[in-house]
Amino acid sequence: MKIILTSSFDPVSEREMEYIRQYRKTHRLRDLWLSVDEAGSLDHAIRVRLLKKAAGYDRRLHVCETPEKGEAIKPLDEESIRKGLYRLAARGIRKDLITQGYYLDETARAMCNPHRYEHSKSVAMTAVKLAQAHHMDTQKAYVMGMLHDITKAFSDEENERIIRLYKPEWLTLSPKVWHSYTAVIFAKQNMSLSDPDIAYAMEHHTIGDGKTDYAALLYIADKIEPLRGYDVSKQTASAMKNLKKAAFEIREESKAYILKTEGIHV
Ligand SMILES: [Fe+2]
Ligand SMILES: [Fe+2]
Repeated sequence: MKIILTSSFDPVSEREMEYIRQYRKTHRLRDLWLSVDEAGSLDHAIRVRLLKKAAGYDRRLHVCETPEKGEAIKPLDEESIRKGLYRLAARGIRKDLITQGYYLDETARAMCNPHRYEHSKSVAMTAVKLAQAHHMDTQKAYVMGMLHDITKAFSDEENERIIRLYKPEWLTLSPKVWHSYTAVIFAKQNMSLSDPDIAYAMEHHTIGDGKTDYAALLYIADKIEPLRGYDVSKQTASAMKNLKKAAFEIREESKAYILKTEGIHV
């Protein structure tokens, strides 16, 4: 008899994989089929592909290509994963979630206030446009845009606690830039972020002192995204031509503005 377990697998979690393996052993089954429910936040075909990858080399686990009827299992940890705890996803798929940018929209929505969430999406879209113009990786641009302010809603106390724990040398920096660093720590610890281009660009997005093209790209996208509400046509035209030059110009303008309004040299 063909035994099928069904769930949303949106996405499949490590605890679900443990349950599935245990189920096969307990019921002394030679083969076990898994079916992905139609409804889900991520496309059905992508969830099927991720489930196949999570099942890996276990030749006794089979994944149905289309939804089939079977015994429904309760989703475990899936909602937490969709809100940014990618470390709870099945071992084989954690990297796919972050590199493909899956669930970043839900994560940003869960971790940011509505204004910050809209800003993050707008930065991500602006970063993608700049990446296209400069033949850079649009997927990386999208991920860094969505993640750059992910810890901005944390209190100063919380950001300070994280920095004291992991990078105490950064405590001398202004609290205004702390979220640049804690966003990277959060993404590395909870979302399996390991791309050095993305991490570096995120760390330098507030001050704009990064030396790479991706750092310039994210710094600019953060400053010129359309929801900012001021005229950025000059800066946008400049960024379409030369990222580093545009980042330098924007940084100089920003320094002059802070000197004028706050009387501080930065
Ligand atoms: Fe920021
Ligand atoms: Fe931002």
